[in-house]
Amino acid sequence: MKLRSALMFCSSFLIFSLFPGSPVKAQTQTEPAIIPRPAVVKSLPGRFLLNAATKICVTPGNPAGRKLGAMLSQALKDRTGLTIPVSESRSPVANAFIIHLGPGTDSLGKEGYRLTVNNKNILLRASEGNGAFYGIQTILQLLPTTKKALTGIPAVEITDWPRFEWRGLMLDCGRYYYSMNFLKKLIDYMAMHKMNTFHWHLTEDHGWRLEIKKYPRLTDIGAWRTTTEFSQGRLNGTPAGGYYTQEQAKELVAYAAERYVTIVPEIEMPGHATAALIAYPELSCSGGPFKPLTRWGIQKEIFCAGNERTFEFLEDVIKEVVAIFPGAVIHMGGDEAPKDRWKSCPKCQERIRKEHLKDEHELQSYFVKRVEKIFTAQKKNYIGWDEILEGGLAPNAWVMSWRGIKGGIEAARQQHNVVMTPYNYYYLDYYQGKPSMEPNAIFDHAINTLEKVYNFEPTPPELTEAEARFIKGVQGNVWSEFIHTPEKVEYMAFPRAAAIAETGWTPKNRKQWDDFARRMETQYERYDFLELNYARSAYNVWQTTLTDSLANTAEIRFKTNSYQPEIRYTTDGNEPTTQSTLYTGPFKVKPPLLIKSATFKNGKMMGKVYEEAVLRK
Ligand code: ACM
Ligand code: ZN
Repeated sequence: MKLRSALMFCSSFLIFSLFPGSPVKAQTQTEPAIIPRPAVVKSLPGRFLLNAATKICVTPGNPAGRKLGAMLSQALKDRTGLTIPVSESRSPVANAFIIHLGPGTDSLGKEGYRLTVNNKNILLRASEGNGAFYGIQTILQLLPTTKKALTGIPAVEITDWPRFEWRGLMLDCGRYYYSMNFLKKLIDYMAMHKMNTFHWHLTEDHGWRLEIKKYPRLTDIGAWRTTTEFSQGRLNGTPAGGYYTQEQAKELVAYAAERYVTIVPEIEMPGHATAALIAYPELSCSGGPFKPLTRWGIQKEIFCAGNERTFEFLEDVIKEVVAIFPGAVIHMGGDEAPKDRWKSCPKCQERIRKEHLKDEHELQSYFVKRVEKIFTAQKKNYIGWDEILEGGLAPNAWVMSWRGIKGGIEAARQQHNVVMTPYNYYYLDYYQGKPSMEPNAIFDHAINTLEKVYNFEPTPPELTEAEARFIKGVQGNVWSEFIHTPEKVEYMAFPRAAAIAETGWTPKNRKQWDDFARRMETQYERYDFLELNYARSAYNVWQTTLTDSLANTAEIRFKTNSYQPEIRYTTDGNEPTTQSTLYTGPFKVKPPLLIKSATFKNGKMMGKVYEEAVLRK
């Protein structure tokens, strides 16, 4: 028996390493299922027993520590039902969580922490609240995934710090308005993944969402349209919209700050500005008037670059934005600005002549440089989509590389800080599985599966070591053309945001798809506990069919993005069940026939049924 299982282990392990996601049985793993994977983990024997007498002790006289203690206490109550009191204490206490904030772990940076769990207590050390907060997230992932009062926490030593400083998620609230409650929930989900930057896309052609006191029409008019749904790019007719007051925006900033998330607001310019131009048509080239849009897509109406009033307006807006958002960086958009209107606008053409610009592309560069002066005067850095590279940038400009990684490479070579968010890996409005198995998403041609998202490497090998230091992080983007409910945001963002979070946090040499897939099985249970509406697409079966037309046979292979899946299939047209044939490796069939397959776990179907006809060739 022993020998047999040892042999099975070896062969499984070999197959498994060749084909991650293929259906083979367990290798034992002792490292706890923490996502993102910590930098250094040493599992130890024994465990800490959490019980009704357990306490939380925090460093005396440290408000951040007290707040974190209270946060841990609340989280433990949610997960165990126990009320664990928080007190301040300098001396080691038995049967306690000890949160020590202060010197001792400085070399790990402000987001780093050290965590030791043994049978006496749980010691969390960090130099700043950021690190202690992340240590708490790790502690919560050491707990069972379902509510249990008396619980054991496995003994472990963890030393952890992030690979990148910007670990972001963007939500497009311009095309679609999302409630404050949902944004808070999203920030909670980000924080649990140790993500630290929420990029708040606040203005779009289809809606302006932030109250600007000097320009009330931006939200009185620009925040509304007579439609709730754009379906396949068309309107269907009922009023929709909404905006965030400055008080609400400040409330969200504070909420995020308590979770060590910085909000980077985005005000789009010169393009993606139709909503603003409907409200203030005098800022456009033609003077308007314009109607609310009835289709998605890139719009031709953009801010007039020849009109001084445009820059006065943007300066006023930026001043109000800066007063709300204390972060060091503001996003100025800069993408997808068609030059049609500038070409036919006398004011823009006059500007080109007077400034000795070559063409409308240099006018865009002029525009960015004018706005840059506003940011500099406000003592803020700005970030823009990679189009802002065209024409040269000020030294403090950051670049968000979205049209692949080329913009990021160029920016890093010019010594600009870069955030990698290439559409073909990190756009979370793209499908995450076969389009026929998924809710409507933006394009059919680029499917960003969980595995594909996970395997993106943000530091391009063509950069020198010095250049690579300008790659500051990663970000997933949730554009909302086809995402109109919080539930769908959750579905599209998770679990893929977990893959991005791990790339942003975990040392490169600790990143490994099959181990991530293993830990995700536990992460899904955490999502269930939180009632997060994540996609189960990773369980769906991908079928590869290799036909031999001479022999009229076909070889079938199955794969999923889940860990060691139990795939079952039928060839008789029936729905697969727990009793159907178990897939153990490639098999041959005689076409024509219909194959239906699905993944099962603990007697339950996990994803959807995939069906594919295998035809005679
Ligand atoms: C973008 O997707 N237009 C940044
Ligand atoms: Zn103009």
